[in-house]
Amino acid sequence: MSADTRAPLVDIRGVDKHFGDFQALKGIDLQIERGEVVVVIGPSGSGKSTLCRTINRLETIDAGTIAIDGKPLPQEGRPLAQLRSDVGMVFQSFNLFAHMTILENVTLGPIQVRGLKKQEAEAKAMELLERVGVGHQAGKYPAQLSGGQQQRVAIARSLAMRPKVMLFDEPTSALDPEMINEVLDVMVELGAEGMTMIVVTHEMGFARKAANRVVFMADGEIVEVAGPEEFFTHPRSERARDFLSKILAH
Ligand SMILES: Nc1ncnc2c1ncn2[C@@H]1O[C@H](COP(=O)(O)OP(=O)(O)OP(=O)(O)O)[C@@H](O)[C@H]1O
Ligand SMILES: [Mg+2]
Repeated sequence: MSADTRAPLVDIRGVDKHFGDFQALKGIDLQIERGEVVVVIGPSGSGKSTLCRTINRLETIDAGTIAIDGKPLPQEGRPLAQLRSDVGMVFQSFNLFAHMTILENVTLGPIQVRGLKKQEAEAKAMELLERVGVGHQAGKYPAQLSGGQQQRVAIARSLAMRPKVMLFDEPTSALDPEMINEVLDVMVELGAEGMTMIVVTHEMGFARKAANRVVFMADGEIVEVAGPEEFFTHPRSERARDFLSKILAH
């Protein structure tokens, strides 16, 4: 079945998620178009990470539907592995395999999941490592790289799977300040090249530069969706105004 190019790339409808008695996501509706960059922002505990994790099914959902490229999320097995490679994810911690070189980290998925030949996977990996500015580090181990370099490798590793959409969950929040921009620059470029991205971040400079829309979450709900300029200068909800006054105070 060919994918419907008119359907949103990511289609989230009526999604609920509970952890025991606690409801972490409440009726989440969000449609993300191809090539769109959506920044998700909101207080700690509002459900941002949980939402990201449901999109590549690291978390199951209790109600509603999530479809990627017109196809509902598979429950398990091979289709789920395929889905996971369609949805790239970069976390706060870099999650590189410590015992593998940078090059091996990036070629592992393409060889094992996508079935690429080693030589082909390595050529593609080098291209991606060059693109994120760490090509010269390919033979090193993760611990020999700075946090910013490791995070750029993590982005290259996700891109090597040729994902349809990339999720970023606070990708710069564990980095020293001087390394934040080198990672954000890679992400801005990726967005400009047309990658569909969902980015949980409080980096407003990034949101202003790269986001098509800002989604503001609080208490498991989407409270407000707006363009970045509009959201940062004229937030409509009291919750958003309150949140912004706190993060802007720093
Ligand atoms: N595995 C889990 N078991 C129980 N509760 C969980 C679990 N994961 C998340 N929660 C709860 O769900 C709520 C939403 O968590 P989530 O991590 O999605 O928030 P967040 O918006 O990403 O916060 P932060 O900005 O601190 O990263 C929190 O109250 C959290 O404690
Ligand atoms: Mg989180």
